Amino acid sequence: MSKNSDLQKRRDASIARGISNQLPVFVERARNAEIWDVEGRRYVDFASGIAVVNTGHVHPRVQAAVAAQLEAFTHTCFMVTPYAVAVDLAERLNKLAPGPTAKKSIFVTTGAEAVENAIKIARAHTGRSGVIAFGGGFHGRTFMAMALTGKVAPYKAGFGPFPAEIYHAPFPIAYHGVSTRDSLEALEHLFKYDIEPTRVAAIIIEPVLGEGGFYIAPPEFLQALRKLCDQHGIVLVIDEIQTGFARTGRMFAIEYAGIEPDLMTMAKSLAGGFPLAAVVGKAAIMDAAAPGGLGGTYAGSPIACAAALAVLDVIETEHLCERARTIGETMAQSLRDAAKSLPAIGDVRNLGAMVAMELVQARDAHRPDADLTKALVKRAAANGLVILSCGLYGNVIRCLVPLTASEEIVREGLAILTQSLRELQRETIERTTAIA
Ligand SMILES: Cc1ncc(COP(=O)(O)O)c(C=O)c1O
Repeated sequence: MSKNSDLQKRRDASIARGISNQLPVFVERARNAEIWDVEGRRYVDFASGIAVVNTGHVHPRVQAAVAAQLEAFTHTCFMVTPYAVAVDLAERLNKLAPGPTAKKSIFVTTGAEAVENAIKIARAHTGRSGVIAFGGGFHGRTFMAMALTGKVAPYKAGFGPFPAEIYHAPFPIAYHGVSTRDSLEALEHLFKYDIEPTRVAAIIIEPVLGEGGFYIAPPEFLQALRKLCDQHGIVLVIDEIQTGFARTGRMFAIEYAGIEPDLMTMAKSLAGGFPLAAVVGKAAIMDAAAPGGLGGTYAGSPIACAAALAVLDVIETEHLCERARTIGETMAQSLRDAAKSLPAIGDVRNLGAMVAMELVQARDAHRPDADLTKALVKRAAANGLVILSCGLYGNVIRCLVPLTASEEIVREGLAILTQSLRELQRETIERTTAIA
């Protein structure tokens, strides 16, 4: 038995099936945009651990910062005896968050926890309970985050009842016929049918749907949300957990809309692979919760904070925002070229290096091909590329290559991706011809 299949057997016997398992590839080592499995096979990494290592696996500067922190101390609990690395990081994030208003931050451990805390803060600030999120959005697996998530299977099925006063409006997705105007009208309908705006504490939105399929919210929609929130005293929460830290070609995707969020949630690439999340927002709102109301034993781990400071340095010194835009153009162009001879590619879209292709039958947006998408993830892995699927209908391939990847690695991964899709297309044609 191979090492991978042996480990897979042990994994299946020891880990509950609720934890999904995309590939039977057990990692031994990873560097920058490459992964080696326990059998010595090499993979190009277009997943970045789900948008976590924008600065690549084990970036030397992150590694050195973590090693130095490990020497100093690993945990005292920030709520008991605080430390400078967390304060340094808060100051830097407060400066990086868009808009002129003074900011404050809190640190927690996971993205879902950041979302939970953003809603707690918005409720404490407004004294209201309602929260509006969007169809197809993903905000995490804890109770409030799960309730806000706009996708039932597999995230919510069987886990109810959910916290009350959560409402969903459609996310504007031009490819599926939902315009900015449709989404804004749906919000007006919510205010008519379900809840008066004066009882809404927060509207939470991803500027680009992550798990939902890499659909990009039009800037005018985000600007309209800003106006709506100002008009009704609602806290606008921008979830940058997947889009943040140079991924989209800006430090934060919301910068493309030119608006100032009230609160932002951050996690994933913030700390280059160490569990760290943050809520960063307008100081007056952030201070609404009373002392002790926010926090956690591991909230703001010094190791993770040290890693995050190094990540921010790397983004700056290696010009990763610019690099993300170049990578995004290369990838989107290459996939658009491939689409000319691959009818399964219904749409290619990107914001910086957040690149996706939507797989459909016969170029028809209304005929999502989830089976092909699953098969492509497996085939690509067999050919040496790790990629992820996503999307409300499970038919989107998302590419999240580390922004530190070389041009050659990006091109190598693209070649494997398109070659894998060509193989599957040829096999489908051969099968259909054989049946006929
Ligand atoms: C936009 C967004 N919000 C929240 C989360 C939840 O983050 P975590 O898995 O760290 O709890 C995710 C994770 O994929 C995400 O993409």
